[in-house]
Amino acid sequence: MTEVGIDGIEIWAGKLELDLAEVFAPAQGDDPGKYTKGLGLYSSSLPDVYEDIVTMAANASKRLLERKGLEPDDIGRIDVATESSFDKSKPISTYVAGCLEQIYEGDFHHANKGERKFACVSGTQALDDAYNWIRAGRNRGRKALVIATDTALYARDDPGEATQGAGAVAMLIDENPDVTALGDAQGFGSADETDFLKPNQQFPSVDGKRSMQVYLARMREAMMDFERAGGDTHPDNFALIPFHTPFPGMVRKAAVLGYRHCIRGTEIEDELADQIGRQPRPEAFDGEDEYLEAVKEYTEALGETQEYSDWYDLTVKPTLAISEQVGNWYTGSVHIARAAGLAEALKEGREIEGRQLLVASYGSGAQAEIHAETVQPNWKDEVSQLDIDEQIENREVITFEEYEAIHDVHNHDAETDMEPLTTPDNEFVFDGWGRMGERKYTYVE
Ligand code: CAA
Repeated sequence: MTEVGIDGIEIWAGKLELDLAEVFAPAQGDDPGKYTKGLGLYSSSLPDVYEDIVTMAANASKRLLERKGLEPDDIGRIDVATESSFDKSKPISTYVAGCLEQIYEGDFHHANKGERKFACVSGTQALDDAYNWIRAGRNRGRKALVIATDTALYARDDPGEATQGAGAVAMLIDENPDVTALGDAQGFGSADETDFLKPNQQFPSVDGKRSMQVYLARMREAMMDFERAGGDTHPDNFALIPFHTPFPGMVRKAAVLGYRHCIRGTEIEDELADQIGRQPRPEAFDGEDEYLEAVKEYTEALGETQEYSDWYDLTVKPTLAISEQVGNWYTGSVHIARAAGLAEALKEGREIEGRQLLVASYGSGAQAEIHAETVQPNWKDEVSQLDIDEQIENREVITFEEYEAIHDVHNHDAETDMEPLTTPDNEFVFDGWGRMGERKYTYVE
């Protein structure tokens, strides 16, 4: 059967950099260690005055189409995943197509366009839709453009403010892909949860601590469902494990629980038994509290072993290299984790062609999804063309006063008049409002 998966990736980061340790922490009266060590975040990417979810999506898409030598006719489907949409009816994909049509001779009139919503997991759902569309043979040789774009902003002084970020990931989905091929097996963990939501409001209502518990619970369910679907979960069988990364500290917590789950009954559990004993089994305890306490102790001991640390450093840590510099990109977060892991593997000279990635996506409200992907022969060519390191390096570092102003610029309820802090260069920019309240865009040479 022909493989279907990710044929190309382009990433567009917001142009501004808020340094969390040097600028944000002192202004909040916090120890910088809370951000760098606790949350695992160094800085956030934020959008300049002329940037938004459309410009970042269109700019990433333009680069992707150009790099792959594609014309509008080659695209049969454009899906945008976002939880920052400013329109309840007209999908962001139509704005993105409108932008691209300003610079291409052809148009996207025969491409099916939509917008996917389920918090941060919708980027993966859009990928899934594209995969199914091609697998069903309805694509007529055309490819799908899937874009995850968000301005992940919180209300000022919300605890989530520390985890903000903004950026877009554009992915081309096609047969015989160059980056990764998606596997068929999928696991879901889904429940009606009230942990993070935006009931007709721009900034989220968040129960932060609970959201972390919900993330871990749904991930566990998804992992068990993935196993039921026939998915392999032996930890040594994966070159990389990209997780949804609201902040790297969340992934650190999830990784050790995932490792514990996946080594149960394997030779790894046997080999570790001399050091830390075997995993507690519920039947060996009189009550649930004692059992849970024993599991907690085992997990802490597991996290301290060299075996776990080596595994984490090889398969999970590399996936955090972008997130720790840009913050949470909501729908794009797991996709920058994949890109970061592949880019770090390339830098380290790892030969991972044919190896598996275990991709663990999550969206509040809440749903986790787990599937595997196989690294394709052309992965190095594709990944070497990512310029996210330069984008991160070239961001404009802002003061706390500039941060306060830029937050207001992107706050739909605040009135501000602020000059951009950077100069657009060969890119789409927000260009004011149209007669029906629509946002307008132009391409700046
Ligand atoms: N040195 C080292 N570590 C420090 C420290 C210091 N000086 N000060 C604090 N820390 C540690 C804390 O111990 C804590 O680590 P542990 O959780 O391991 O104990 C960590 O830094 C964070 O500190 P706090 O718990 O005090 O931080 P907080 O209460 O201000 O907020 C948060 C943390 C709840 C995650 C908040 O940022 C938040 O609400 N974020 C938004 C919600 C979110 O991202 N949830 C994640 C799951 S939901 C999801 O994934 C969907 C999504 O994208 C939003």
